[in-house]
Amino acid sequence: MDTINNDIAYTLVSEKEIDEIVTRIAAEIDRDYAGSDKKLLLLCILKGSVVFMGELMKKITVPLEIDFMKVSSYGSGTVSAGRLNILLDLARPDMSELDIVIVEDIIDSGKTLSYLVKYLELKGAHSVRTATMLDKPSRREVEFTPNYIGLDIPDEFVVGFGLDYDEKFRNLPYVGVLKREVYSN
Ligand code: IMP
Ligand code: MG
Repeated sequence: MDTINNDIAYTLVSEKEIDEIVTRIAAEIDRDYAGSDKKLLLLCILKGSVVFMGELMKKITVPLEIDFMKVSSYGSGTVSAGRLNILLDLARPDMSELDIVIVEDIIDSGKTLSYLVKYLELKGAHSVRTATMLDKPSRREVEFTPNYIGLDIPDEFVVGFGLDYDEKFRNLPYVGVLKREVYSN
């Protein structure tokens, strides 16, 4: 049968490893925001972060709210277009009451998150931090260090657990590297 698993060359991060990562980051967020008098807002960056967000929020035990932004920086392939458009903005009347944790699937050039952190600070958030499931530090074009990091990975294009190639493979429950022929088809 033709399934998305057939297009994966190998698994980079297994379901078990992802679960351990999510548990650890949730505990770090619990530790850092316990007893805060502001509102913790988990801000999911659509669409890639939606699976990580869903798993992460279930494991956090301090009170929180969720919201969503959508930005576009990539075209349909594997290469960055290098610009950022805000397609869905965060519109809240209570910005100064918010401790925001931006939830991202993966950091590559660093442009998306460095822009978003500045943007949300300018909008008046009380604080802004970032959590990423995966990080490719060797790909940075702007200096950026997230506050919560799941796993550093090498410079490979990965899919699964929310991450896509041409909008596909987001439903893979683990993170994998695509077979070469998938790109060339
Ligand atoms: P940055 O602004 O270059 O850091 O871009 C980060 C965004 O690029 C992520 O939120 C993803 O949407 C996308 N991206 C970067 N690397 C990958 C990858 O290996 N697979 C899928 N999407 C990726
Ligand atoms: Mg993304």
